[in-house]
Amino acid sequence: MGDAMKIRRGNREDLKFLPELLMAAYSGIEEYGEESIEKARRYIDELYDEDPNCFFVAEENGDIVGFIFCNRFWYSKFEHSHVGEINEIVVVPRFHHQGVGRELIKMAMEELHTDKIELWVGRENNRAIEFYKRLGFKEKETAGEWIRMIKN
Ligand SMILES: CC(C)(COP(=O)(O)OP(=O)(O)OC[C@H]1O[C@@H](n2cnc3c(N)ncnc32)[C@H](O)[C@@H]1OP(=O)(O)O)[C@@H](O)C(=O)NCCC(=O)NCCS
Repeated sequence: MGDAMKIRRGNREDLKFLPELLMAAYSGIEEYGEESIEKARRYIDELYDEDPNCFFVAEENGDIVGFIFCNRFWYSKFEHSHVGEINEIVVVPRFHHQGVGRELIKMAMEELHTDKIELWVGRENNRAIEFYKRLGFKEKETAGEWIRMIKN
């Protein structure tokens, strides 16, 4: 990650920039993204409301180029316990492979204050699956189009 890049806590004002970034990041894997920018907007608002403190953005020269939403209050019926949940992570394609995703996960993990972190990823979203494996997540159950991954 270059010097011009910084990760900071997100806020409500940032939300309006995110639907477009989400649509761009899911280009080529549309089946796992949102159908329209309007739906992306609703989805992002919901993620924010789940746990507004567990939201971070990556900024390059003042422009948001990535974000992460997590949830500190998630009950996992698979783990039979509360876990930290990563709900969504997006880095715009032109900044892929520069360590931005890794930094966003790091910030989320600090905020989650837990050893056990769960997430769901599209079965054929190989890019994301490889990324998560690289960061120490392991594949668990499959449910329909989704695979559950855990890091502990
Ligand atoms: C998944 C995503 C967030 C990764 O972001 P990124 O900023 O490119 O990832 P990083 O550069 O921080 O990569 C971290 C590690 O993962 C590895 N990695 C990232 N993408 C990879 C890929 N396509 N294949 C293999 N490894 C990959 C990197 O090599 C790096 O490992 P290293 O530091 O040991 O070399 C990004 O691809 C994205 O936004 N995808 C679209 C949205 C999406 O699918 N989100 C997940 C929803 S569950």
